[in-house]
Amino acid sequence: MSATARLPAAMRLVSLSCTTLVLALGYAHAQQASQTPAPNPYSMGTEGLNQGPRGLTSYMPVAITVSFASLMARLSAEKPAVEQTHNALLSERYDLSDRPAQGVTMDRAKPIQEGVRIKLPAGVTWESLAAMSPDQIRDQNLYPKGFYPLPHPKHQEGGFVFPHFLIDAIKQQDGRDLKRFDIDFDLPDHFLAEFPPAIYLTPRTDLGDVSQGKLVSLTNYYQLFNGILTPRQLEGLRLLLTPFPQQQFNATEDRRAELPSQGAACFDCHSNGHQNGATHEAPDARPQWFRHRIKTISLRGLNVQRLFGSQRALKTVEDFTEFEQRTAYFDGDIVEATKKGVNPLERGSQVDFMADFQEMLDFAPAPKLDVFGKLDPAKATQAEMRGQDIFFGKGQCATCHQPPFYTDNLMHDLHTERFFKPVMINNMMAVGDGPIKTFALRGAKDNPPYLHDERLLTLEDTVEFFNLILGTKLAPQEKQDLVAFMRAL
Ligand code: HEC
Ligand code: HEC
Repeated sequence: MSATARLPAAMRLVSLSCTTLVLALGYAHAQQASQTPAPNPYSMGTEGLNQGPRGLTSYMPVAITVSFASLMARLSAEKPAVEQTHNALLSERYDLSDRPAQGVTMDRAKPIQEGVRIKLPAGVTWESLAAMSPDQIRDQNLYPKGFYPLPHPKHQEGGFVFPHFLIDAIKQQDGRDLKRFDIDFDLPDHFLAEFPPAIYLTPRTDLGDVSQGKLVSLTNYYQLFNGILTPRQLEGLRLLLTPFPQQQFNATEDRRAELPSQGAACFDCHSNGHQNGATHEAPDARPQWFRHRIKTISLRGLNVQRLFGSQRALKTVEDFTEFEQRTAYFDGDIVEATKKGVNPLERGSQVDFMADFQEMLDFAPAPKLDVFGKLDPAKATQAEMRGQDIFFGKGQCATCHQPPFYTDNLMHDLHTERFFKPVMINNMMAVGDGPIKTFALRGAKDNPPYLHDERLLTLEDTVEFFNLILGTKLAPQEKQDLVAFMRAL
């Protein structure tokens, strides 16, 4: 049975939590009756506010009937409550403490977080859970909360949310303010990738890191790259660093930045061609509460990728580059794009140049790997070698994560919905994930948090996740070895 066919019945199962939500929203409305605009039809469904498999409309409101000042006042006032609800969800799901692993760091120096951070339901262990069938786990509600899809920090609204260190750096270097007044980024810094990350270029491996430890932005790119890149690539990089209007950052009264904004640049999220954790929602579904949270995908190793985007699987980097600005920047709403300032890029002299630069971004070096992408026994530890055997054998990981880059360049549906009943989590409907791109595991230790929606915080979490999903029944030592192997990739 398909997810949609099953929903109406399933919705009744979760009607209790939805009723609570409706009551809470009703209360909020009563509180501000005098200044609150009429309910937004975009956030309503055919079976009631925020319910049902179908939205009332695919279109967001274009004519905003309240002033910017009152919109900002209302959303700023709502921010603490929105954050409190989301933070409660995070602490229910995860152990968020700062526990660096010994003897291993990310590419430069940032510590890697160690240990399983997903909290287990009362009364079970990872071993007892792995011994149960998916039906038993679903029927007894034992799927760990942290394995459910993770909502956006403000799922009912979504949109670009940047981590504070990126906001500070861009403000200082380029004078643009990427802070939203209605929400902040949610995950603690120690679970995010190194910032700023190094840059390795495929045609100039002799140079090593060409970033000189700096965040590349409009004000320093020329000085850093003139004489290393071709004029065509330099122009591509300039465009990747140039801001263009977007849903939350624009000049209209419907923005989420205090001052009218020039917009966001590609490398505001793909910092130095990698990623900084910045989050968004996939633009490809309606109603809003069916949209997935998405993590910024690293552009390292883009030259070996054949599918672009975790779910939409566009076929070329050129298509994705055009698509990002025209569509993803505006939540897939072409009407909003027209209002707020869409920037159609010219294919031959802009898109291709931007693609050229992206295609040159290499993975960070992995000194223990040979030309086949396997461990060199002379350099690897015994734990890493054992982990490699599990990865290619009992763990079945290599079926999808094939060397040398540890991807099969395909999409796979892991059927996570086998393990839980459809449920509304903080304005997000969790119904399973559908087909998702097999992310390359080359450079995995430099690329946290994990999965398309950042739901897993450590490599240990990913091992417990796949052990359950695949039913591989790995022993504790085998799990540790698998982590040691992945840290070497
Ligand atoms: C708000 C942050 C943000 C901005 C700004 C942004 N991206 Fe992305 N990018 C993402 C996210 C999130 C994904 C993952 C999309 C998905 O999973 O569907 C992504 C995916 C990609 C991919 C696919 C990578 C792969 O291997 O699948 C490419 C290529 C890309 N972006 C290029 C760009 C370009 C070019 C721009 C500027 C025109 C840009 N991005 C602007 C966040 C951003
Ligand atoms: C059936 C194909 C398949 C198999 C087998 C598989 N994976 Fe994956 N892997 C995926 C897909 C698809 C994703 C992306 C899932 C998502 O984002 O929801 C993924 C994501 C990951 C990630 C996160 C990468 C990132 O950048 O976010 C890690 C780590 C990982 N897998 C490790 C493993 C390990 C370890 C095993 C074996 C125990 C394994 N995988 C087996 C398909 C597979």
